[in-house]
Amino acid sequence: MSTSETAFRLAARLDRVGFSDIVTIRNRVMEIRSRGKQVYQFEGGEPFTNTPEHIKEAMMRALAEDRTRYAPSSGIPELRSSIAEKVRERNSIPASEQDVIVMSGGMQCLFAAFQSVVNPEDEVLVFSPYWTPIKDLVAHCRATLVLVPTETARRDGFVETLSRYVTERTRAIYYNTPQNPTGVVFTGKEAEAVAQFARSRDLIVIADEAYEDIIFDGEHVSIASIEGMFERTITCYTLSKSYSMTGWRMGYAVAPEPWMTGLKKMTLYSTNGVSTPGQWAALAALSTPGDFFEKLRSEYLRRRDLLLSGLNELGLKCESPAGAFYAFPDVTSVSTDSRAAAEILLERAQVATVPGIVFGEHGEGHLRFSFSTSIEAIEAGLDSLRRNL
Ligand SMILES: Cc1ncc(COP(=O)(O)O)c(C=O)c1O
Repeated sequence: MSTSETAFRLAARLDRVGFSDIVTIRNRVMEIRSRGKQVYQFEGGEPFTNTPEHIKEAMMRALAEDRTRYAPSSGIPELRSSIAEKVRERNSIPASEQDVIVMSGGMQCLFAAFQSVVNPEDEVLVFSPYWTPIKDLVAHCRATLVLVPTETARRDGFVETLSRYVTERTRAIYYNTPQNPTGVVFTGKEAEAVAQFARSRDLIVIADEAYEDIIFDGEHVSIASIEGMFERTITCYTLSKSYSMTGWRMGYAVAPEPWMTGLKKMTLYSTNGVSTPGQWAALAALSTPGDFFEKLRSEYLRRRDLLLSGLNELGLKCESPAGAFYAFPDVTSVSTDSRAAAEILLERAQVATVPGIVFGEHGEGHLRFSFSTSIEAIEAGLDSLRRNL
């Protein structure tokens, strides 16, 4: 082998880390647009509203007052203390300020959490279908993803189902509720069962609560609030979905030691903290009055119900998502291959969606539609499907 073949090679830890399929879909959308056609976009994952004014104003105030210098890399004390209060009150997680770290969005929280917990050769249990980047975060630890079908767990029981997939090598469970892409919201009983299993097998839980504020049916239960779970859970939050702040890259993780030391090291040597003025804006976000979410939920609910009834009328059978802003209908009547089904919808009706297979083998036969868009866009997309499918 020549020197350059060995030298010009990425570090092996990146071998199994992939890129998102969503990029491929975005490119297809742009290509169809360049042919002068309108595309009805349901493939996204962003809130349909803009960042609220009071949050933007707090950022501008911080800039005007020159609060622009290095902050402690775990976050400004005012924000950490406000987050600790929020998770105690709203999530019933018994955290104090030192159990909180501010990070660049939910993604950095999850990256740091997996890096802090998972060793090479370990196995991680992931309820499936699952949010795609998790497979890459696990791969970056050089560990193995073990998919646990959510549907089976809900039908046969969580302890029974998890027992079928656990091995000597299992280290952690990734627990996402409300779920992307299915909109499943795990019940308190289900959380208890997962917690019982984690405690009995001495597993660590990486909880992803990115959509905690977008729930229509049931209630949000943070697994770290359950007896004996705080010490074995890293809970990851983001301001992206709750406050329409996707581009701000603002999130936080909650965990006691030894996990917090891991999260701090990961932050220190990657971003060395989050933008200081952005943190002052995050502080303003956390003090948003509670009725903000009630209004937001009713807006999402109108969109969910409109999309759901349209899809079901079209014969794309769809269970009602209890949370998040995605519908995940069965599209086997179009094609059993979800990539082919997505292509058919895009070519015939200019409707862009995400193929279910992207979310793991248990997502095959489905497409993910986001209903986080305008009522008019949902109506227009459904109309195009009625006319062209
Ligand atoms: C399930 C889930 N977790 C975490 C995130 C991370 O969001 P962000 O990095 O924008 O904070 C997302 C974003 O789509 C998500 O869907």
